[in-house]
Amino acid sequence: MKISLTVNGEKRELDVKPETRLLDLIRDDLGLTGTKEGCGKGECGACTVIMNNKVVASCLVLAPQADGADIKTIEGLGGKNKLHPLQQSFIEKGAVQCGFCIPGMIMSSKKLLDENINPTDEDIKRGLSGNICRCTGYVKIIDAVKDAAHKIKSGGEENV
Ligand code: FES
Ligand code: FES
Repeated sequence: MKISLTVNGEKRELDVKPETRLLDLIRDDLGLTGTKEGCGKGECGACTVIMNNKVVASCLVLAPQADGADIKTIEGLGGKNKLHPLQQSFIEKGAVQCGFCIPGMIMSSKKLLDENINPTDEDIKRGLSGNICRCTGYVKIIDAVKDAAHKIKSGGEENV
């Protein structure tokens, strides 16, 4: 079946099988491999993207359910020459170890900062509760999100 959706601001039309997952569409059909597959069951958050302004696990969404949707993936943040403040802060604060969870962490963090630019540690823990990291112990991730919020507030950098 044919579906059309907007991915990182670009309109895309695709022919998909009804059972295709949004995660497969993003990675295999569009070649946007920043979005990762961990558990494939909605438990790890590695596949997190923003769909119609909501954080979703793309392994649990079927491609036909995304017909007409607006999707943002990690590739839609920042750019090659200018990283998004979250990307910059995750690097600077040492919050990236193996990196597998990080695209999902950053998409959840972006949504959190869209809604609350002054998050407490508890707010961040709640906002990232669907994202599992096996490496960092989370402390540096929380520091990175707070640092990005500070950059956005004080440096006039944008959370887009
Ligand atoms: Fe989707 Fe783990 S791969 S939540
Ligand atoms: Fe390795 Fe999070 S940095 S899983």
